[in-house]
Amino acid sequence: MCYAIPGRVVDRQGKYAVIDYFGEKKKALNELVEVKIGDYIYAQGGYVIQAVPEKEALATLAVWRETFFELQAKDLELARLDSSQAGVDKSYLRILDKALVGKTLSRPELSRLLASTAGAEQRLMFKTANYLRQKWMKNSCCVHGVIEISNHCRQGCQYCGISSWNKRLVRYRMSREEILTAVGEAVEKHGFKSLVLQSGEDPGYSAADLAEIVREIRQRHQVLIFISFGEIGLDGLAQLYEAGARGLLLRFETSDPDLYRTLRPGCRLETRLEHIKRAGELGYLIITGALVGLPGQERESLLSDIFLTRELKAEMYSFGPFIPHPQTPLAQALPAGDQDRAKEMLKVLALARINDPQEAKIAVTTAFETIYPQAVETGLMAGANSVMLILTPPKYRKNYDIYPHRAHAGQQIEEQISRTIGLLHNLGRAPTDLGI
Ligand code: 5AD
Repeated sequence: MCYAIPGRVVDRQGKYAVIDYFGEKKKALNELVEVKIGDYIYAQGGYVIQAVPEKEALATLAVWRETFFELQAKDLELARLDSSQAGVDKSYLRILDKALVGKTLSRPELSRLLASTAGAEQRLMFKTANYLRQKWMKNSCCVHGVIEISNHCRQGCQYCGISSWNKRLVRYRMSREEILTAVGEAVEKHGFKSLVLQSGEDPGYSAADLAEIVREIRQRHQVLIFISFGEIGLDGLAQLYEAGARGLLLRFETSDPDLYRTLRPGCRLETRLEHIKRAGELGYLIITGALVGLPGQERESLLSDIFLTRELKAEMYSFGPFIPHPQTPLAQALPAGDQDRAKEMLKVLALARINDPQEAKIAVTTAFETIYPQAVETGLMAGANSVMLILTPPKYRKNYDIYPHRAHAGQQIEEQISRTIGLLHNLGRAPTDLGI
């Protein structure tokens, strides 16, 4: 199994189990399965997900033992700050130094970092973000899988290729059985310990239907389920939590209420945020974030997006570039060239890490990979520590057309996994999520 390292429960503290990983102690909520001291378990996102038979755990650990320390050493080596500061303005350097010693940066300081166009300054900013990621979060890199269960959507978001604007799209809705089969394969065959189920806001699936599917998944498999079905209503959130979902992926898209209203006609930012906050109160792990490079989006507004994500206590940041889709009103809203957009994205990832160094995961998103083939390598070296793979059955993938030419749309799952593992290996990252 590649996506988690088994740990041993060494203590119980109320709702938490204390878990030992090669001498390092982590805590995870002991709520979904019953474990006792001495058991071997898999944890994800701070939850104990699965008890593992001792024999199996010891065999997996034997394989991991050597690699684990090897990877850690490589990561540490790569995260070292070299002394080259040529071409970096003194005032800029002072801001990064302040971040390195753990002081909170002011908004003008963060703004200064985001505004820089000097290559040397940006490189140092990425290195600083990577250093902080290594210092606080070590080398674990979360690998989530996403299954896109339906591309029907009742919303008319101006930027989105599966919105009601797209009259040419062939719509699909996976049946309950198809979903259960895809989940079964992801968990049992490919070893995923956490999955995101995603769709447009599909009136064809009620919250009760979705809850029933999640309940069935939880009965069949030990896996952490994130839901990403748009705004399913506060009652819907409660129903799905009760059914066993423990994570919500819902971006607020932009923290600028006026821009939000323009891009999502008839919708309000407030309602979106209410969903995310309610989910947090219910106990969901939150993945949220915004689009980068939207027409009319100011740089300062991106900074507010980063602050808002932190305020929402995101378990993971999900920021991706806006990519115009030909069948939407923003088809002609041509953003800057790919290279400039990639730089802007990297700065956003780095800034998110610098502003929230200690706990949050930061994802390199598929949209970023779509505009920039080296997104995973460079993103992970600029503060990010999470990647997403697409596990939607291949026959549906190209129809989940939120933006054109989606990365991995034509790639077999096995190929995505082996490519990711190889890449993480080169960077000294362990494809695992060691909890909190
Ligand atoms: N470009 C990039 N990302 C997009 N999304 C929707 N449309 C686009 C686009 N044209 C993102 C939104 C949404 C997520 C599922 O996909 O942020 O929340």
